[in-house]
This record gives sequence, C-alpha cells and structure tokens, in this order.
Amino acid sequence: MLSYKASSDSHGQDSSYFIGWQEYEKNPYHQLHNPNGIVQMGLAENQLSLDLLESWLENNPDSLGFKRNGESVFRELALFQDYHGLPAFKNALAEYMAEIRRNKVKFDPNKLVLTAGSTSANETLMFCLAERGDAFLLPTPYYPGFDRDLKWRTEVEIVPIHCSSSNGFRITIPALEKAYQKAIELDLKVKGILIVNPSNPLGTSMTRYELNLLISFAMAKQVHIVSDEIFSGTVFDCPHFISLAEALMDRQLENTDMWSRIHIVYSLSKDLGLPGFRVGMIYSNNETVVSAATKMSSFGLVSSQTQYLLSNMLSDKKFTGKYLKENQKRLKKRKQMLVSGLHNAGIRCLKSNAGLFCWVDMRHLLSTQTFESEKELWKKILGEVGLNISPGSSCHCSEPGWFRICFANMSEETLGVAMERIKDFAESVTSNRNRNISTYHQMICDQRLLFNKWVFKLSTNDRESDR
Ligand SMILES: Cc1ncc(COP(=O)(O)O)c(C=O)c1O
Repeated sequence: MLSYKASSDSHGQDSSYFIGWQEYEKNPYHQLHNPNGIVQMGLAENQLSLDLLESWLENNPDSLGFKRNGESVFRELALFQDYHGLPAFKNALAEYMAEIRRNKVKFDPNKLVLTAGSTSANETLMFCLAERGDAFLLPTPYYPGFDRDLKWRTEVEIVPIHCSSSNGFRITIPALEKAYQKAIELDLKVKGILIVNPSNPLGTSMTRYELNLLISFAMAKQVHIVSDEIFSGTVFDCPHFISLAEALMDRQLENTDMWSRIHIVYSLSKDLGLPGFRVGMIYSNNETVVSAATKMSSFGLVSSQTQYLLSNMLSDKKFTGKYLKENQKRLKKRKQMLVSGLHNAGIRCLKSNAGLFCWVDMRHLLSTQTFESEKELWKKILGEVGLNISPGSSCHCSEPGWFRICFANMSEETLGVAMERIKDFAESVTSNRNRNISTYHQMICDQRLLFNKWVFKLSTNDRESDR
C-alpha cells in the first residue's frame, strides 16, 4: 500500500553508524544516574561553546523577544514567508562565511539559497545537478549520512574515490580516474565530485595541491564540484582552511565555465553548534541553480524567527570574531585531550587540524585485517566497553580498522571516563594476545621437547639394536 521508497531500507538507516546511536539511546551514560551506560562518541556535535552563545543572548534580549529598537517585530516575523529569506540574515551569513575564510572570498547574498541545514542543501543540489542514471564521485572515507542525503530520494548514485592510509587518505589522480572509469563501467554518467572540506570523518582540510587536482580534473571532464564546507569554521590548527572558491580565484577561473560549476554548502550546525536550528545554505555562481534551488527551498525553509535572531547575532562582528577564535581554541584543546588519551592506550590518530572528531587507527586491535573483524571490534567496544564510536566501514573506508571518534559533544569528565575505558580495553586485548602468544610458544617448546625425546629414544633404540 505504500510507495517503494517509504517501505524500503534504501535510506541507509541500517548502517552501524545509526545502529550505534540507537544503542546509545537505550542506555546513555550519566555520571550519577547511569555510570555504566554508553558514552556517545559517534555524534559530531559541538557543545564546547554554547555558553558563549548563551551570554550573547543574555546581553541581547531584544533578539529573543522579537523586538527591534524596543518595538515588537512579532507580526512582521509571523507573516514573513518569502522563500528568498530575510535580506538582513543573508547579508550577515554571507559576511560570516567570508570572515571564516579570512575575507579571501566575498559572497554575494543574491547567490545564496537558504535551506533547512546542510542535509537539505546537499539533497537540493543533487536534484538540481543530477538524476537517475547519473553519479557523483565521493572520496572515501565519507560522512555516512550521504547515502541517505544524496541518493535516497534523488536516485543519484555515489561512486567512491578510494583513498588510502598510505598517503593520509589524500585524493590522487589515479584514484579519481579509477572512480570515473568505474562509473562508466556501471553505465552511469558522472555529473560531478562532492568533497567535504574539512573532511568528515578525517578532520583534515584539503591542501591547495588536492584542490588544484580536483579543479583540473573537473575542467577536463566538464563536471561539477560540490564542496560541503560545513566544518570550515572549526579549523583550529595549521594549515589554514582554503575554500574551493579561493582555489578557483587563485587560478583566475572566475570568468570561465568552471566558475558556474562550483557549488558551496555550509550550515551553522557545526562551528556554531546549532544543529537544532536547521540553518544551512547553498552558494552557487550558476543562476539557474540558484533559481531552481530557491524554489525547492520551499520544502525546507528556515523559520523567520530563527533568521531574525541569527541575523542579529552574526552581524555583531565583535562577537563573531571572538566566538570563532575561542571556539577553535577550545576544539584544539579538546582534540589534544582525545589524542593523548588514546596515545596512553597505545592507539594512534591521523594528524588532523579541524572538525569535531579524530580518525583513529585501531588496526592493531583487529584479530584479522578484515571488515568482519572490524565489526566484531565495534560490537565489543559498543556492548562491552560502552563507547559508541563509528567504524570506518560505515564511512565506506576501503581499509578495515579505522574508526571515527567524536570529542566535542561531551564534558571533559566524560571524555576522561571514555579514555579510561578504552585504555583498559586495549590493554586487555594486548595482554590476552601476549598470553595467547606465550601459550603458543609454550606449546611449541613442549612439542619440540617431546620430539627431541622421541628422536633421542629412537637413536638409543638403534644403538641398542646395533649392539
Ligand atoms: C559533511 C556533512 N554534511 C552535512 C551534514 C548535515 O548537517 P546539518 O545538520 O546542517 O543538516 C553533516 C552532519 O554531520 C556533515 O557532517
């Protein structure tokens, strides 16, 4: 009685990424009420700087009280439903995005489309750029939500660009070419490449070299590039963030075809820590895309009171400057806590400079270097250790043993508890393994001893019979 899409599992909700969340919901850790519960480390949420937003709200009561210069704007906001968005908000958002990019890129508010988060922005772009029979190439590992956001309703296919740990999961030309050929083999038309910069789950920003590779490839193949820059405001360490738009400008490609084939996605869910407000956007130099996406944004508008509140917050330049700096400082400190906690447990992370997570190498804890072992390890860490972390396979990583661990959605104390649990676990795996190895050695020694005795016995028998 239902549509195929409503009744099938093609939204990807059965991935271990989402199953881990469900397990956490059943038994969430609480320092006092449930100290043996599961610690949620599979959620890329930023709770480190909410106090800064709260103190801004306290100092700016008009914004929350629907007032402008003391006068009520309630009626104005209650009736406003223009899908172009509030001009004041779009101006403030465009300037905030430029500030994150150290004003190396300017954004024209007329080329900006408001959406209900980046989820909606990415899907809307897929609708505008591709359809059934088309594909987008995505570097692996990638954000597990993309299987739902990019494919489910649009019927566009994702073809992975397999990146490897041997070069820190950087994009290479052979990997790009291989993915492109794979799409052709599958009878799919490649419409573009979608990158997440800085990457979720790697926590690294793209180098200029990588961006240039991608641009040259997209120019040669005449395809689009969608750059999801949702984590751009979280870059807390060198190298600086380079937006795709900046890389194109540096190559003086503003007046070329390629300029109208780049599309940037952003949202306030990560650096500002406001996923519940559902504020995202698409920025495109392609007029047709802007016009179509604006019409489609009717399906997921940002409410006018949210736009009003945030236009006041983001146009307070003194606040945004301070917020960005302080938030990055806190993220960096928190990331270092995670890295050193894991280091104490003998676990290494990929070197990172951004994001709300680390990409963690647990290959040495696998019983065999397979995805079955990775799943076994993930289940043990979730069920026995009580940590929800995301296995690399849920991010389509091509090598088993990598996990994404989030650090910004909990208190320092909870992170401390998680680090103690993982240390105990890693030590137990290693000592079990050492015990097994020494039992094995003992077994070999015993067998050798028996064998020697047997040989000795044979030779004495021989000698005796010779006599
Ligand atoms: C790369 C990426 N894109 C999009 C999203 C969705 O974000 P939003 O809350 O703005 O819809 C996420 C959320 O984790 C993400 O990591």
